[in-house]
Amino acid sequence: MPIEAFVFDAYGTLYDVQSVSQVTEEEFPAHGDLVTQVWRLKQLEYTWLRSLMGEYKSFWEISAESLVFALNSCGLEYDDAKLGRIMEKYLHLDPYPECVAALDSLKGTPLAILSNGNQKILDALVSNTGLSSKLDSVISVEEVGIFKPHNSAYQLVEKTMGVKPANTLFVSSNAFDACAAKNFGFNVAWIERVTPDALAKEVAAQKTVGPATMFKMLRMQMENFGMEPDYRLSSLSDLAQYAATG
Ligand code: LAC
Repeated sequence: MPIEAFVFDAYGTLYDVQSVSQVTEEEFPAHGDLVTQVWRLKQLEYTWLRSLMGEYKSFWEISAESLVFALNSCGLEYDDAKLGRIMEKYLHLDPYPECVAALDSLKGTPLAILSNGNQKILDALVSNTGLSSKLDSVISVEEVGIFKPHNSAYQLVEKTMGVKPANTLFVSSNAFDACAAKNFGFNVAWIERVTPDALAKEVAAQKTVGPATMFKMLRMQMENFGMEPDYRLSSLSDLAQYAATG
């Protein structure tokens, strides 16, 4: 099937969610890593729980609620100013170093984001990081009021871009997202940023496994669903081989 669109997950795929760790460390010295990891774990968990409960809230609100959860669970004291400075980073996350060159290598085929982020924060992030001109569409699940991995979220791609799932290459580093997108009917490239071998070595080297390693174990390894993505790539740069030629 010819690929007529490349659709990217945002957080963790084009953008490094770990890039909040500098501001969490500045605001909570010696606790930045723990806050960063508990926050991201809880943030995604809240998207799933709210989807199951039928109680949608925007990703921005969920991010704020899960940040407060993380700080409470770490026993840290905070005020609105601290919360505000940390949340602000979500509008300025670092794109992965290879992101811009990878998008440029795919030029000529429609490129889009499909993300759990609400429209306003996605548009701000894309604009603040200079990616607006690189993307044809920025699609938010906000329109359907339920988060990935619900099929209604993935259906937005055909609805918005007019490209069938069989002609779409969906790209995500979030294993749950890659599995669900495959289940939905997309061609899927999973960005495997941490191989099982590298992770095993990282675990073996630690006496007590730290938060960042625990995060990699829980969220950066392929799910045990019996669903394989079509491609396992080590970085976004490897997508260039699927660029349309001629
Ligand atoms: C997103 C989440 C899954 O960008 O990271 O949709």
